[in-house]
Amino acid sequence: MTPDVRPLVAGNWKMNGLKASLAEIAAMRKAVDAGEAGAAELAVIPPFTLIALAAEKLAGGSVTWGGQDCSPQAGGAYTGDTSAAMLKDLGATYAIVGHSERRTIHHETDSEVRAKAEAAIKAGLKAIVCVGETRAERETGLEYAVVTRQVRESLPPDGGPDTVVVAYEPVWAIGTGLTPTPADVAKMHDSIRRLLGEIYGANGAKVRILYGGSVKPSNAKELLGIDHVDGALVGGASLKAADFLAIAAAYR
Ligand code: PGA
Repeated sequence: MTPDVRPLVAGNWKMNGLKASLAEIAAMRKAVDAGEAGAAELAVIPPFTLIALAAEKLAGGSVTWGGQDCSPQAGGAYTGDTSAAMLKDLGATYAIVGHSERRTIHHETDSEVRAKAEAAIKAGLKAIVCVGETRAERETGLEYAVVTRQVRESLPPDGGPDTVVVAYEPVWAIGTGLTPTPADVAKMHDSIRRLLGEIYGANGAKVRILYGGSVKPSNAKELLGIDHVDGALVGGASLKAADFLAIAAAYR
């Protein structure tokens, strides 16, 4: 945790969820609005097909929502893409950019990720910029070099605490049940915090740094209690309201 920074627990649904899953979103809202979810902000990031429907369920409440990606372009002939303004139009607060699955499967580069983050901010969204090393990079001692490069080259230099969230997600921990040791998480988040200071000056101290990768109810308290861990980006365990709320309960 970072003093004076409200934690964020964001649920990245990835390519999961049909209309029936809206019941989970309604249950999340109910608990949050009843004050049962603790001190963190909760955000749901469903697939694009569900955002408008999720927005209807969440409107007027305290749970925020967003998209899993956005185009760096403002609009036009980009078949299959979604602009940041379209997300904003649905009341979204966040756009995830540079998730490792997009960096790997869609070969997104740091400069593309930065362009997406800039487009998100320009449209009035906050960009959740993901960084993290692969297993091979960690095994060869390259994790700091890789994450440093990603942070320096993917973050928009004009951003700050109101527009940028960083998510450190070691690729080898995503969906595997594996997590780094608390000491490793602490060291990487501390390193990212120092980089944020280089990029944003004093404002870097207030940019939220989330941890992501196999966060679940059983490890949330330990992981989310680490210095400079200002919340979580949760994949699998965010699909069910009970699990997601149990993770957020780390901040109760
Ligand atoms: P996981 O995914 O919680 O299922 O490991 C995290 C993420 O990819 O954001």
